[in-house]
Amino acid sequence: MPRSLRECKNQRKITVITAYDYPTAQVLSKAGVDVLLVGDSLGMVVYGDTTTHFVTLEEMIRHTMAVMRGHTSGLVVADLPKSSYDTVEMAMESARKLTAETGVKVLKIEGCPEICEALVEAGFEVMGHTGLKPQETSKMKVKGRSQSEAEEVLKEAQALEAAGCLAVVLECIPSELAQKVTEKLKVPTIGIGAGPHCDGQVLVVSDLMGLYSDFQPKFVKRYAEMGDIMQAAAEKFKSEVESGIFPSHDQSYK
Ligand code: KIV
Repeated sequence: MPRSLRECKNQRKITVITAYDYPTAQVLSKAGVDVLLVGDSLGMVVYGDTTTHFVTLEEMIRHTMAVMRGHTSGLVVADLPKSSYDTVEMAMESARKLTAETGVKVLKIEGCPEICEALVEAGFEVMGHTGLKPQETSKMKVKGRSQSEAEEVLKEAQALEAAGCLAVVLECIPSELAQKVTEKLKVPTIGIGAGPHCDGQVLVVSDLMGLYSDFQPKFVKRYAEMGDIMQAAAEKFKSEVESGIFPSHDQSYK
């Protein structure tokens, strides 16, 4: 792991995967993933909501604690959830609580360069996020196809860098725009649905592992079919219990 994400820019690609619990953090650390993101996608992936909008700061604290206990390498980044940073004062208080109670060092928020700047000035490390901002909308839609939207995304990415963000997530924007933003910024860009030119890539763990089947965006690649593996294991357990194969002597106390 390089000393900072910034050192990776133009050297090697950065890998980021979301994590919400202790065992997943252990596995992703062992795999050498650079950043474990406790994303507010938690709301959908773990709690089955249709948006990230109902995730609370308390839930983020609980899940970030679990990830902090499980991770053995790499950087942990935690999202400040929607409505926890409506004002600079709220952002400060939420950031203070999340970092103090979990030990996490880096926070991510969506948009809001002025809030990022205030947090950075107060000594917090912040990852920016622009393009599609799920805390603003529940619609999965590519952002930046029109000239005006593309300019808006580039402007916000530059404002996030100027605010002191250590990296900027680019979500669901055309590849050419992501390339332009990546070339313009000195800090790394981390893409999700933003094509191959970003400095790093992030995916939601359950999408990548093939555990989440409710909805699969075009940008997801499934690297495993964990849902099928888990279902087969559960079916085998059921059949062995019903037929008396499990537990055997090996799994029983004398
Ligand atoms: O909450 C999340 O998982 C995220 C990623 C999609 C970047 O913000």
